[in-house]
Amino acid sequence: MQQMVEQALKVLFVASECAPYAKCGGLGDVVASLPKALRSLGVDARVAMPLYDSIAPAKFGLEAEPPCLVNAGGGEINGCGVWRRAGPGEVPVWFIEHNRFFARGGIYDDHGIEFGDNAFRFGLLGMAAAQVCRDREWLPDVVHVHDWPTAVLPVQMDAWRRAGAPLGRAGSVLTIHNQSYQGYSHASALGYLGLGPEYFTADALESWGKINLLKGGMAFADAITTVSPTYAKEILAEPGGNGLSAHLNKRAADFTGILNGADYEVWNPEADRLIPAHYRAESLIGKVVCKQELQEEMGLEEDATIPLFGIVARLTAQKGTGLMRAVLPAALDTLRMHLVVLGAGEGDDENFFRWLAGAYPGRVATTIGYADELAHRIQAGADFFLMPSLFEPCGLSQMYALRYGTLPVVHATGGLEDTVEQYNEGEGTGTGFKFYEAAAPAFHDTLSWAVETWQERPSHITRMREQAMRVRFDWEMSAQRYLEIYRRVAAKHASGAEA
Ligand code: ADP
Ligand code: GLC
Repeated sequence: MQQMVEQALKVLFVASECAPYAKCGGLGDVVASLPKALRSLGVDARVAMPLYDSIAPAKFGLEAEPPCLVNAGGGEINGCGVWRRAGPGEVPVWFIEHNRFFARGGIYDDHGIEFGDNAFRFGLLGMAAAQVCRDREWLPDVVHVHDWPTAVLPVQMDAWRRAGAPLGRAGSVLTIHNQSYQGYSHASALGYLGLGPEYFTADALESWGKINLLKGGMAFADAITTVSPTYAKEILAEPGGNGLSAHLNKRAADFTGILNGADYEVWNPEADRLIPAHYRAESLIGKVVCKQELQEEMGLEEDATIPLFGIVARLTAQKGTGLMRAVLPAALDTLRMHLVVLGAGEGDDENFFRWLAGAYPGRVATTIGYADELAHRIQAGADFFLMPSLFEPCGLSQMYALRYGTLPVVHATGGLEDTVEQYNEGEGTGTGFKFYEAAAPAFHDTLSWAVETWQERPSHITRMREQAMRVRFDWEMSAQRYLEIYRRVAAKHASGAEA
């Protein structure tokens, strides 16, 4: 046993997103960068994800591998194509191709309407990933699943363990990136997932007469993590737990919050190929150029003295769009500020930001859509980064903003509380501006405070920027903590004693 752990530990990530192939938000960033950090610690970490039709094999240099046959429950046999990306020094990624499930435009939904068969789609992903491992005789010591889409895999692994199947000997880790999405499905998916009625109980998958995928994963994963210490505390109680806090409390001994890292190979103003000029903490002249070019690109008045606020976000209630709608028009009426927005999401929110750009021409610019390169240019060109999230499990955007010297203005919740240091007006220190009550007056006051600091205490802004740019949320330390968990869970079933 000891010997197995000391050989390269084999960890399979099974996930619905992985940058740069498919990403809706920070989940895709984490599934790309955590395995990379683990590999540099000597772990044989690999990823399995769907081949969505947005992932063109030629564009990403994917190689076709022998297909696999998946025996889903109820005798349904699904043939899946398998593709692989394994460039030198890269994290190997297996892509599961299944046109009926994955070639339909969206990842989770069709323009906001959730696909009704998500439990089947991502259930197939997990079963195919397991089959690929068996076919290649690469049996992981640990399977690491992420959020509701792949949370059912630890439940299936429990069933496989009981049946004596080899993948049942792996340990499992579930990371909760966002507890508010739980993945509900009609109970009819149980058969397809190969799960009997014994798993459809209130302490397993069942919730309000339906399957709750996240709940199942929380019951059966050997270890559960979430992505910041403060969010870990928040979801152990209501309302943060979204109805699952009691269930999670039963697993408290196996649950921990580990702060995400940022990938500074991708997000680094000293080397970022997507921004017009490079800069570093000691010399910010390049940031002035980035701001000017951003103002020009977005059709904003070109005035270096006006603070430019940036938003890059999924436009959804979580991100504080309600607060933004309540506060931004009044703030723009009273404060000397400009705003650049990049986002996509709920129709009403998109319309609000379109309207705002029309109502404040030259002062507000809105781009609706998903645009990675523009996200980098906003991080580099803005002075402040707005993130008034109602809740935020970790948040990567504020970490990137800090690295780019773009001071975050945030609601002190979850990972935002853990990563942003409040401005100390007496000392001129801190890395951002935080408000503690998710209410319009608090948000408005904090925006005013940031603008006033910009105008009245520019030396504080310079000092804060330098401080912010020196902060690091490196993956290495967090990856070490995951490794400790992997070692523990890998040992749990390895003997096969229960099988
Ligand atoms: P979440 O995962 O909740 O969306 P995070 O802050 O953890 O929040 O991660 C957001 C990630 O998604 C960042 O990498 C950010 O740059 C990116 N992102 C969000 N919206 C967009 C968009 N419209 N265009 C480009 N990138 C985006
Ligand atoms: C989720 C959360 C976000 C977190 C990301 C990566 O999307 O909303 O806060 O940073 O996952 O863990």
